[in-house]
Amino acid sequence: MEKIAYVNGSFVPLGEAKVSILDRGFLFADGIYEVAAVLDGRLVDNASHLARLERSVGEISLPLPETTERIQEIQKELVTRNQLANGMVYLEVTRGADAGRDFAFPKGVKPTLIMFTSEKDIVGAASARTGIGVITVPDIRWARRDIKSVALLAQVLAKQAAAEAGAGEAWMIEDGKVTEGGSSSAFILTQDDVLVTRQNGSEILPGCTRKAVVKLAEERQLRVEERAFSVEEALAAKEAFITSATVFVQAVVSIDGKPVASGKPGPMTRRLREIYVDFARATAV
Ligand code: PDD
Repeated sequence: MEKIAYVNGSFVPLGEAKVSILDRGFLFADGIYEVAAVLDGRLVDNASHLARLERSVGEISLPLPETTERIQEIQKELVTRNQLANGMVYLEVTRGADAGRDFAFPKGVKPTLIMFTSEKDIVGAASARTGIGVITVPDIRWARRDIKSVALLAQVLAKQAAAEAGAGEAWMIEDGKVTEGGSSSAFILTQDDVLVTRQNGSEILPGCTRKAVVKLAEERQLRVEERAFSVEEALAAKEAFITSATVFVQAVVSIDGKPVASGKPGPMTRRLREIYVDFARATAV
């Protein structure tokens, strides 16, 4: 069955889903995206993703072409049309296609909205059991990483370097501290059982999974500190892990080839993963 995509009001076969070469997403990366997980055919923590979408588009003065209520209806319809049980819905909104290539915002141009789905067994993924290695790379991104912009070249290069090194993610380093993963938030559990993840701000994307995990951990009386940490601190930690919509909670077992603690996923990471999966199932829409 050919997959169905959504393009500007229409559901079309993926192979026929096209936007103009003048689209500003293509020319300038003038667009915003979101990725929401799908579990058992339902959207995980989608209100959080849609709230971040609204914030991101607001930060670049890009009007959404549909209400977030309608966007969720389209997401759901796409899941149904593609008979998607487990995976994700990708959505992107750009400032649309103008008649040429003016840098400044065009007038009277309708934003582009596209969506597609892909399958992934997030809960059963092998890397969830084994954990992943990460490599470190300099964080060469722009200064507004809180905006979920489609300008992802720095992350493409970081994650390609990780792939070439046989690692599952790249941790980006700025001023001696980890900012975040190429497409995930970074956490450690210190020797005295404090969960540490970098505070939100313009240096990182405010991860939806990060937010939920912090809340779930605090509700269970775990101590959480939102602050930057170094690679040395991570290597001296009890556990390390990443979070994102497409991995949920995933153990980090080595950094630049050096093991974190025993080099195996730790009990707290496994527990937080279970807690997050329960939360995801219980709240999916
Ligand atoms: N990436 N940090 C960055 C730079 C990210 O790209 C992502 C998500 C996250 C985690 O955010 P969330 O928990 O809301 O997924 C943190 C998505 C999954 C992607 O680009 O595919």
